[in-house]
Amino acid sequence: MKHAVPQRMFHVKHKNTGWITSIANQKGGVGKTTSCINLAASLAAQGKRILLIDLDPQGNTTTGLGIDKQAVESGTYEVLMGEKSLQNALVETDCEHLFLLSASMDLAGLEIELVEKKDREHCLRQAFLEYDGRFFDHVLIDCPPALSILTLNALTASDAVMIPLQTEFYAMEGLSQLMDTIRRVRSSLNPDLLMDGILLTMVDRRNNLAQQVEDEVRGYFGELVYKQVIPRNVRLSEAPSYGTPVMYHDARSLGAEAYLQFSKEFLLRYQAQGEVE
Ligand SMILES: Nc1ncnc2c1ncn2[C@@H]1O[C@H](COP(=O)(O)OP(=O)(O)O)[C@@H](O)[C@H]1O
Ligand SMILES: [Mg+2]
Repeated sequence: MKHAVPQRMFHVKHKNTGWITSIANQKGGVGKTTSCINLAASLAAQGKRILLIDLDPQGNTTTGLGIDKQAVESGTYEVLMGEKSLQNALVETDCEHLFLLSASMDLAGLEIELVEKKDREHCLRQAFLEYDGRFFDHVLIDCPPALSILTLNALTASDAVMIPLQTEFYAMEGLSQLMDTIRRVRSSLNPDLLMDGILLTMVDRRNNLAQQVEDEVRGYFGELVYKQVIPRNVRLSEAPSYGTPVMYHDARSLGAEAYLQFSKEFLLRYQAQGEVE
């Protein structure tokens, strides 16, 4: 992967939705949702206007922001099916500047419904093309733990993909499959898709093995790997049960601090490429 950072200006076609970044890894439990919520909240706290899209049928991003999944009337399902426009389906959250497109209860069934549909990987992209609402600096998409049609929709609609990697012995396993998928998406569905970077999560630096894994990943992927890592921190796992990002649960926790620093590094990668026209 040569492109460590996005290398082009916005397409005029989605100037209202800024940069669109998928947070993807087909492994479950690697920190996708935690990273989405806390990156989004950290960016919003710095005044960036953020839209978070919960594309995982489990809806952990939705509940993690204190929104009741059962009560969602229009969310990702309705938008992907073209039943509702993006601007009419997104909702405000308790965090200023942070908006959410919730996961709908029906999202799990969408996979099957889309099988028959023509251009089924383009549903989300289409929703962005038709978007005519408030301005966002960044859109973050929380992907499900599978290389499914939903994930393909996310990658097709995105400018870049960010991969959270749990720093454990099997960290690299499955990564080549993900990279293959990204390459395939580039060669057919979305030639403009770039690699944003790799974020090491649940890092325990007291553990020698974790240090070896980190060295190995950095040795292999070089500058693609974010300098900031996310430590294993209990506050990060507690916060969703309070329906809040960690910075509003315990602002001084190591987890909150790490995501804030990471968000600054994330912003630099995009700012280097120029702001919205
Ligand atoms: N840095 C961390 N420290 C401690 N627990 C974490 C950390 N990151 C995630 N977790 C916890 O690990 C579990 C899986 O994380 P999650 O973000 O839901 O992963 P994914 O979305 O990739 O499935 C969750 O219970 C979450 O609270
Ligand atoms: Mg998740």
